[in-house]
Amino acid sequence: MVKFPGANHLNVAVFISGAGTNLKSLIKFSLKTKKKIIIKLIISNNKKAKGLKYSKIFKIKKKIYNFDDKTNEENILNFLEYNQIDIICLAGFMKILSTKFIKKFKGKIINIHPSLLPKYKGLNTHQRVLDNNDNFSGCTVHYVNSKLDSGKIILQKKVKVLKRDTAKTLAKRILKQEHILYPMALKKICINL
Ligand code: GRF
Repeated sequence: MVKFPGANHLNVAVFISGAGTNLKSLIKFSLKTKKKIIIKLIISNNKKAKGLKYSKIFKIKKKIYNFDDKTNEENILNFLEYNQIDIICLAGFMKILSTKFIKKFKGKIINIHPSLLPKYKGLNTHQRVLDNNDNFSGCTVHYVNSKLDSGKIILQKKVKVLKRDTAKTLAKRILKQEHILYPMALKKICINL
């Protein structure tokens, strides 16, 4: 649980690298929270990320940073502080944050991963599930710590693997559940609002 003594609303920054469909579901959810949860910033490492379009559609400030240049981290942290960001949601964000960065936002960075963690950390989750003939896969929202996809789990949703599934069809079905799970998880950790 994230403790925000005295806070009557929370400012969220969503970090993306690609399509941003999870970003969209978080924005839609936030618009139903009577300004208790505000998606205030969209941050990306990729200037071509399709999800950046939601900045214009929903009038949310966006910023692109080169996360490979670690000297930039101070700028990013300053920008987050300037915008009074309380929570960071990683949503299809393909860069690994430094330990220093994670420490600064300790317990306030969450991520969505398309597998039932602790199974299948890292990339290519769906193909690995199929290769192992698993009956179930799913998605997980978890806190971010300095080890990849290893922080405390907030919520998970199971999805049945079908006989005819390919990595693509499975990914699509799981993504649908991600769009439900991520807002639920955000709500869960902000329960004191
Ligand atoms: C999602 O499956 C997410 O779990 C994974 O990358 C995908 C990103 O989708 N990390 P989107 O950019 O939110 O559409």
